Amino acid sequence: MLYGLARPALFALPPETAHALAAAGLRLAHRHSGLRRLLRASLGPPDPVLETRCLGLTFPSPLGLAAGFDKHCAMYNALGALGFGAVEVGTITRYAQQGNPRPRLFRLGMDRALVNRMGFNNIGADGAARALASHAPESVVLGVNLGKSRVTPLDVAADDYAYSAERLSPYAQYLVVNVSSPNTPGLRALQHAELLAPIVRAVRGACAAPRPLLVKVAPDLDDEAVDALTDLCVAEGVDGVIAANTTLQRGGLRTPEAAVRALGEGGLSGPPLRDRTRALVARVYLRARGALTVIGVGGVSTADDVWALLAAGASLVQVYTGFIYGGPAFPSRLAAELAARLRQQGLDGPGALVGRDHRAPGGQAP
Ligand SMILES: Cc1cc2nc3c(=O)[nH]c(=O)nc-3n(C[C@H](O)[C@H](O)[C@H](O)COP(=O)(O)O)c2cc1C
Repeated sequence: MLYGLARPALFALPPETAHALAAAGLRLAHRHSGLRRLLRASLGPPDPVLETRCLGLTFPSPLGLAAGFDKHCAMYNALGALGFGAVEVGTITRYAQQGNPRPRLFRLGMDRALVNRMGFNNIGADGAARALASHAPESVVLGVNLGKSRVTPLDVAADDYAYSAERLSPYAQYLVVNVSSPNTPGLRALQHAELLAPIVRAVRGACAAPRPLLVKVAPDLDDEAVDALTDLCVAEGVDGVIAANTTLQRGGLRTPEAAVRALGEGGLSGPPLRDRTRALVARVYLRARGALTVIGVGGVSTADDVWALLAAGASLVQVYTGFIYGGPAFPSRLAAELAARLRQQGLDGPGALVGRDHRAPGGQAP
């Protein structure tokens, strides 16, 4: 209700200013348990039918917040109170960095999409470790997404990831090797097997205690590259794949081409990604034959979208852009719709739906 009144004013502001305002409120609630209790009371408790077990963890809901929203590890408990079952903080790099010059975040209102070239602005692994140490996660699974610092050459990227993993793994319930953001020059080259394998090994070796490890991939990989990456992840004992990050493609938009071009470089997110994400989730799921947990992310804005990604093979689903357009009630609304639909179809949890697209009626998943 209050948000409904504030929304037009927020959307009249430059997107990064609007984000900073919303973040200020969420930071406050992150630090004050009374505010979180109020949030939880006003939104209602999570429906137990949504509880999801995977990666050796129990998620209160399969719906998580994707990386890039809580870049500075300052809001995750408030975001949990809004109804997210998991929050992936970061991307965190070894060294603190400012990211690209502003403006670097743009709305495509006609498409309910965003273009960003943030460039991993973050407080660095040491700063993130201090932030995470000061607030244990409360009723939310905490993932930590790791990236390469801009100043670090590609051939020593593994050391950079390993440093961050060593500092942050004590606080993370799962870790993500992000090799797919389009705004750090050369980063996506790390998706190639010969560069990715040493990073995965270095990260695993740097963790004081074992943590589920996932790799986040780009939606712009062709089928052959997706298969090679999936095979590498299985061979290296990676626990899961997050599909996918933002795209460099600009096809299928309602926003006029000249207006899109004027925004310049960056990754596109939101509904234009939906079909690609679903295809990618299905491909990784089928190729891995149960050896990897798939997290689907890209273009989710309705319970139907969540349903479709679970059925395609995702065990968990994340959102970012849908939350920006949908507002603070978005996660709890989506969760309630998903829970109602599961009950209506007589399913005892989201896990019963995972990979259903690929099963013969009454049959087993591959
Ligand atoms: C402003 C913005 C910043 C992002 N920053 C990161 C990031 O730091 N690390 C990352 O792995 N993904 C980042 N992403 C990508 C999202 O996590 C997600 O993969 C992508 O936006 C697709 O999901 P969506 O369509 O629900 O937004 C960012 C996305 C946006 C819109």
